[in-house]
Amino acid sequence: MTEVDARGTGESETAAPAGPMIEVDRLRVSYGTETALQDVSFSVERRASCAVIGPSGCGKTTLLYALAGLLKPDEGRIRIDGAPLEAIRPATGLILQEYGLLPWKTVRDNIAFPLRSRGLDRHRRRERTDAILGDLGIGDQSDKFPGELSGGQRQRVAIGRALALEPDLLLMDEASSALDAMTRERIQNLVLGIFRKRPVTLLLVTHSIEEAVLLGGSILVMAQGRIRSRVDNPCFGLPDARDAQAFHDLCRIIRRELHETA
Ligand SMILES: Nc1ncnc2c1ncn2[C@@H]1O[C@H](COP(=O)(O)OP(=O)(O)OP(=O)(O)O)[C@@H](O)[C@H]1O
Ligand SMILES: [Mg+2]
Repeated sequence: MTEVDARGTGESETAAPAGPMIEVDRLRVSYGTETALQDVSFSVERRASCAVIGPSGCGKTTLLYALAGLLKPDEGRIRIDGAPLEAIRPATGLILQEYGLLPWKTVRDNIAFPLRSRGLDRHRRRERTDAILGDLGIGDQSDKFPGELSGGQRQRVAIGRALALEPDLLLMDEASSALDAMTRERIQNLVLGIFRKRPVTLLLVTHSIEEAVLLGGSILVMAQGRIRSRVDNPCFGLPDARDAQAFHDLCRIIRRELHETA
């Protein structure tokens, strides 16, 4: 069994004192006869950030779907915010690998439409949507359709849509893997900014070592459906972390872990 306790905001003094936000105990998930996850156990503290890294096909997206309540485990337990996960949780925001935007809705409507089902009136929907569009720097794109946007802009809309519901848990799949280097850095900075500004727990899946070290207060290394190790990240939240020697040292350690488990 792999028992992992993933912490790592460096802000534990100010965080809520209650138990972990995510608790996963001996999780097993399969698709028919193929086992995608087995014996996965870990926890993530409230308002911490945890990155999950591993090679293609190791089960990262499957783990995210299970945490979102979209896939039912064959075995094991998931608790979110202290309660067993039995259905999709309204306070969990999910950002998928292909962004999951509705192509027939404008940027503004993509962000605003989940608010309708929450019963927010027109005025409050508009107010919240405008604030998010501004925060994400896509206010001038609000009347466009997803097909008219760049990859980075699409990613922002997907983030905006998840943020509109003011989640306490944000699950992100490959936040920036489809983007060019500069846009990727911008999205990564945006994610860090959101994390600092909002009371949110973050779990993000990536296959980029640098992204894991930049965005994860702790890093879970996965291979073949299992968690192979957990690495605490002393660089997390450092200003200009990308330039720090410790950042590059940790990238080397993670790279070695990935090679050893391949
Ligand atoms: N809907 C499905 N039906 C059957 N098998 C699936 C399904 N989705 C995923 N799998 C299998 O489960 C395993 C884990 O897939 P998953 O998508 O979780 O990997 P991943 O780590 O997210 O990969 P990537 O980095 O390429 O996104 C893979 O072997 C994959 O082929
Ligand atoms: Mg995936």
